[in-house]
Amino acid sequence: MKLIRLFSLLAASPAVYAQVKGTAFGFGAGTTGGGSATPVYPKTNAELVSYLSDSSARVIMLDRTFDFLQTEGSTTAQCCSDDRTTKCPGGTSKGQLSIQTTCTSGSWEKCTYWNAPRTPLKVGSNKSIVGVGTKGVIRGKGLRLNGGVSNVIIQNIHITELNPQFVWGGDAITLDSCDKVWIDHNKFSLIGRQMIVSGWGAAGHVTISDNEFDGKTTWSSGCNGKHYWTMLLIGEKDWYTIAGNWFHDVSGRTPHIGTDRTASKIIVHAVNNYFQNAGGHCFDVDTNTWLLIEGNYFDTVTTPVTSGSFTAGGQVYFIQTVDDSSKAQGALGYIPEWNRLSNSGSVNSLVSQSAINTLGQYKSNIQWKHWSVADVPTKVKASAGVGKI
Ligand SMILES: *[C@@H]1O[C@H](CO)[C@@H](O)[C@H](O)[C@H]1NC(C)=O
Repeated sequence: MKLIRLFSLLAASPAVYAQVKGTAFGFGAGTTGGGSATPVYPKTNAELVSYLSDSSARVIMLDRTFDFLQTEGSTTAQCCSDDRTTKCPGGTSKGQLSIQTTCTSGSWEKCTYWNAPRTPLKVGSNKSIVGVGTKGVIRGKGLRLNGGVSNVIIQNIHITELNPQFVWGGDAITLDSCDKVWIDHNKFSLIGRQMIVSGWGAAGHVTISDNEFDGKTTWSSGCNGKHYWTMLLIGEKDWYTIAGNWFHDVSGRTPHIGTDRTASKIIVHAVNNYFQNAGGHCFDVDTNTWLLIEGNYFDTVTTPVTSGSFTAGGQVYFIQTVDDSSKAQGALGYIPEWNRLSNSGSVNSLVSQSAINTLGQYKSNIQWKHWSVADVPTKVKASAGVGKI
């Protein structure tokens, strides 16, 4: 996204971060990654592992495919076949088998999965991980930020092939006890479990911008050729900006936000995302969540917001009418943009004053120039994903 800040940051001098393009905005503002460290170009998986996990500030350039898929062998075991998700009665694709130790609602079936995707790469603090053109690909492993890691930029890389046949096959990006993360212009495809997931620990201040979440799959827990497990955000103390992303051919948890764990408090600004061909639901909101949804374009989305989101206790403000917009202006300090529903399910009025009051406490994180919703499909498709910055 080309973002023009309306307020405070206009005055700040633009810092130059070698090889990272643009500057983190939204709740992830101030994330500088490896800063001005001299870029390194790993040539082997081992070099990549070492650069990612060591304790130096680093700008790590990915100019090739790092293929981990078969590097840790495979496991042949019994997986759970659930009538609902595996057998897909009447469905248009195969389902996913579950890699798990109990199988109360289904039956066991022999399965073989790769081991590497189930153990992500560990990422240390002060790292920029940046793809070159469209060349930066990590196949068969995701990334994990935990143990108090902070200040990480992940930009312009493609994470793919994490046992897509299997629930629990692997997560692309895990945030669990971390802070200051900018996930920008990446692509996620053929993932077994979540494309982005937080653990129970804090994910901290996170901006997820201009990524392509490509849910097309032959193995769908929604039985519809679309990936069900897109984003699960259930951390402890989290602030997310989710902006300018292209979520397509997905069918659930796009995203799921919130948990009834009392320690949890999750504040989210979801703006200018393009949700396209979502066969199931997009927003599924649980309690301990304060969420503003504005300027998003829902194009052929069966259920933009689940019915449970209205009753679970999450505080949600979904801009849909002139009235919704003008009533939010006072708390937010600007006129928020409408969401558009095109060939999509309807959304009943969701106008939590608590949601906009909470978001309104973070003016510098929410006030930058948003796109008009009519422009969202074109602009998002032109900018989201790899090789576009
Ligand atoms: C990250 O960089 C900051 C600022 O230079 C520094 O204070 C901190 O110790 C670094 N973290 C690690 C784990 O090196």
